[in-house]
This record gives sequence, structure tokens and C-alpha cells, in this order.
Amino acid sequence: MTALLSAKGLSRSFGGVHAVRDMGVEVREGSITGLIGPNGAGKSTLFNLLSGVIRPQSGTVVYNGEDITTLAPFRRARRGMIRTFQLSREFGRLTVLENLMLSPQMQLGERLWPLFSRPSAVARGDAAVYGRAEEVMEIAALTPLRDAYAADLSGGQKKLLELARTLMIDCDLILLDEPGAGVNPALMGTLTEMIHRLNADHGKTFLIVEHDMDLIGRLCNPVIVMTEGTFLTQGVFDTIRDDPRVIEAYLGGMVDV
Ligand SMILES: Nc1ncnc2c1ncn2[C@@H]1O[C@H](COP(=O)(O)OP(=O)(O)OP(=O)(O)O)[C@@H](O)[C@H]1O
Ligand SMILES: [Mg+2]
Repeated sequence: MTALLSAKGLSRSFGGVHAVRDMGVEVREGSITGLIGPNGAGKSTLFNLLSGVIRPQSGTVVYNGEDITTLAPFRRARRGMIRTFQLSREFGRLTVLENLMLSPQMQLGERLWPLFSRPSAVARGDAAVYGRAEEVMEIAALTPLRDAYAADLSGGQKKLLELARTLMIDCDLILLDEPGAGVNPALMGTLTEMIHRLNADHGKTFLIVEHDMDLIGRLCNPVIVMTEGTFLTQGVFDTIRDDPRVIEAYLGGMVDV
């Protein structure tokens, strides 16, 4: 197995809270790897450590064979690793198209000074970025909403936009933090299909945090379980679902595994 992303011994506490402790994770190239665990298990903190939003107090992150533990998020993005956030981060007063055209500059750490008027790619009439945005809108079923303000989108449409933004630059690994949160059942089908196609047809590797066990069961292999900041077990979904330790971890939580 080739690990595209591999982390070992990651720890990070906030005050007295050990949000992540001695956590290891491997994401195989070409996989859709799931990451589940009860609320507060440390999943989003792990994403922050993997994507460079925060630094670990110990441990290493290796991507494509290179140690990236201390690299800034935009440098990781340049190497092909992109993430979304649990709460969507769209620009409400820009349209869907403009949000997409702005995305490469944001992800790659370019200067954003024209942001307060219009994204500079838009202002420049950047044809390549525009063409890509059109393709991405097709993939994400957002074409009919291209001129809608992001603030006016439904919660589910915002999640689609969040995923679509990651596609605006060339990347190999996409980390999704709860892509299904707040998405209605119809859009959930679109989202699941989109992730599947990006993996099967476009070769994207995914690491997905999600509480929706239907999405996890349909898409993810393997599924990693985290609890109390650290690794519990991993395996195929059907085995994980019946594992007494996993059920125990969720007891007192809210999800029927
Ligand atoms: N910046 C922070 N400051 C203080 N405590 C934090 C911070 N970030 C996370 N924590 C704490 O770390 C623990 C893990 O939080 P985290 O958000 O990683 O959990 P999660 O698994 O993503 O949960 P959920 O499923 O609810 O999104 C929690 O106890 C949380 O309160
Ligand atoms: Mg979280």
C-alpha cells in the first residue's frame, strides 16, 4: 500500500483538553478513507493538524514522502492537498462563479487585495480560471446557480460550493470535514455521487469526516474510528459498525452506528 498521507504520534492540547493525543493515520493513494467518532473526538483538530491550520505539539505529517509537519496550509495546497471546513467559508456577497474564481488565489496563498471589490481573477477576465470554473460548476451541479450570491444558497448548496472550490486547483488529496452536514437527502445523493466520480474518474484521494453513516458506508474504505483524541480502530465499514468497542465509544453520543 502506498500512503499518500501519513501522520504519526500527533498530539495537540488546548489548556487541559487533550484534543488529539498520539494519533496516527494513513491515507492510501486512490482511497476514500472515512474518519468517524463521537462529537469532540478530535476529528476537526486532526484535520487542522493535517492541513497545517494548527501545529502539533508532537508528531509528524508526511505527504507524498515529504515531511510537511511545519508547512503553511497554502504550501500544502501547492503540493496537492486541499481541505474544506466543517462550517462553510464562502464569501456571501460574491456570486457562486466569483467564489470559484477566487478559490485558487485563496488556496494558494496569493495576494487578495482586490477582494473588497471583485476577485482579481474576475477583474482580469482570466479565461483559464473562468473555463475551469465552468467545468467545476457542471461537476457540482451548480451551473444554474452561477450568478446567485453565496449568502442566498441553502446550507446544502453551500456545502457543494465548498467542495467545488477545492476542485479549482489541481490537487490529489481532498480533506472534507462533514461535507454532508445540513445537506438535504436529494442534495446528499448529488454530493455522494460527486465524491464517487471525483475518486473513480479523476483519481482524487479523499479523507472524509462525516456523521452520516449512510455516506460513510457507501463511499469509504477503510473507515478509521477516533475517540477521545486518539485512534480506536480501522477497517471496512460493516466490520466497524458491528465492533463492540465502536458501539461503546458512541454510547452516550448521538449517532446510531
Ligand atoms: N481551539 C480550541 N480551543 C480549545 N479547545 C478546543 C479547540 N479546538 C478544539 N477544542 C476541543 O478539543 C476537543 C476536540 O474537538 P474537535 O472539534 O476536534 O472534535 P470533533 O471530533 O471534530 O467533534 P464534532 O464531531 O462535534 O465536530 C473538544 O473537546 C474541543 O472542545
Ligand atoms: Mg468537527
